Amino acid sequence: MTVTEIPVSGPTLKLSSEHEMIQQVAREFAQKEIAPIAAEHDETGEFPSETIAKMGEMGFMGIEISEDYGGAGLDTLSYVLALTEISKADASHGTIMSVNNSLYCNAIDRFGSEEQKQKFLSPVASGQAISAYSLTEPMSGSDAGTMRSRGVREGDSYVLNGRKSWVSSGPVASYILTFVMTDPEKAHRGITAFLVETDQPGFSLGKTEPKLGIRASATCEIVFDDYRSPLENRLGEEGEGFKIAMQVLDAGRIGIASQALGIAEAAYDASLSYAREREAFGRKIGEFQGISFKLADMKTRIEASRMLIYQAALAKEAAKDSGERFTLEASMAKLFASETANHCANEAVQIHGGMGYSKELPVERYYRDAKITEIYEGTSEIQRLVIARHELGLR
Ligand code: CAA
Repeated sequence: MTVTEIPVSGPTLKLSSEHEMIQQVAREFAQKEIAPIAAEHDETGEFPSETIAKMGEMGFMGIEISEDYGGAGLDTLSYVLALTEISKADASHGTIMSVNNSLYCNAIDRFGSEEQKQKFLSPVASGQAISAYSLTEPMSGSDAGTMRSRGVREGDSYVLNGRKSWVSSGPVASYILTFVMTDPEKAHRGITAFLVETDQPGFSLGKTEPKLGIRASATCEIVFDDYRSPLENRLGEEGEGFKIAMQVLDAGRIGIASQALGIAEAAYDASLSYAREREAFGRKIGEFQGISFKLADMKTRIEASRMLIYQAALAKEAAKDSGERFTLEASMAKLFASETANHCANEAVQIHGGMGYSKELPVERYYRDAKITEIYEGTSEIQRLVIARHELGLR
């Protein structure tokens, strides 16, 4: 993928008018509807059902899914543009949107049967139901192939048992894509994916995860206690689960990179305004090199993140036809954008001084929200491992 393949015009990179329009619609919605409620939902931890429902009506909960299955039928670049704007207003909304689009809808779109698309994709892509993705367990995070949850085939169904943790949107999800071990002797090749209906017997919610940031995105453990999954709810073949999980995470990482970019932009915009207004020692603080160099570094990292994200989005878009992996592009975008979000949020607090530490401004929320982007959907250490293995030819 080269820069010349980016759908832009003119001597500098410029989005097409269609993409600009999607970005503008998402920006207006996010600033008008989400930004004003973000602090309150952060404080209470209440899931923002109303705004998420509106996002569903606008097509934001299944952006890349065909209109035949309730989606908006747009491309990956549209998705990252919209997700960045939503996350800029509130990273919690960004998490909910990202999981729904990248980790759930994308998985069924790619690996699901026609029947599964009708049953499990349409209600979620259209925004009528919320979905989740569940890979992590209390004793299995980065080393995802070592899960303890089990699935045992009994006739035309599987009986699932085990406990999964850190399930984003778990408390409100109607459907969850999950992964359990169906043949422990085969290690990661013994993992199978299932589409779980959360209103069925044998499924229950475990403890709510108490979190530092993205507090309005509901997160919990889930428990399978003899949960019976019919054969037709298995996604892909038996033993294909790990590869499905990894391929879906490649897409998910582009989503988290976009979320991180939104947080970084919000932190930067707040810092720029403050540097222009706040005075110290008889001058605007932006006139001091100590502040202006911070702004220069923030801006440069943000624009570099944007380029990596656009490159990854285009690689994913191309993969829809070619089937090629875009693992490298996704991991680089996530690694750089998440570290940029943390850098920018940290600098934003510093530039704002005491006001950056105060809950009267959203800056401290950006600081808390940024941290998760370096952790979930693969830590920065895992992204470096993936990138290095790719470059060394070890994958
Ligand atoms: N695409 C396709 N196949 C892939 C792949 C990818 N991106 N990555 C790995 N594979 C394949 C390999 O080719 C290999 O195939 P074979 O069996 O044919 O050999 C197989 O999967 C195993 O690969 P590895 O040997 O590389 O596996 P590993 O055990 O060394 O682990 C890892 C690789 C990159 C560390 C992986 O385990 C990983 O990404 N860990 C992080 C997990 C993670 O991101 N968890 C986040 C959970 S989701 C979340 O955060 C919740 C939320 O709600 C937001």
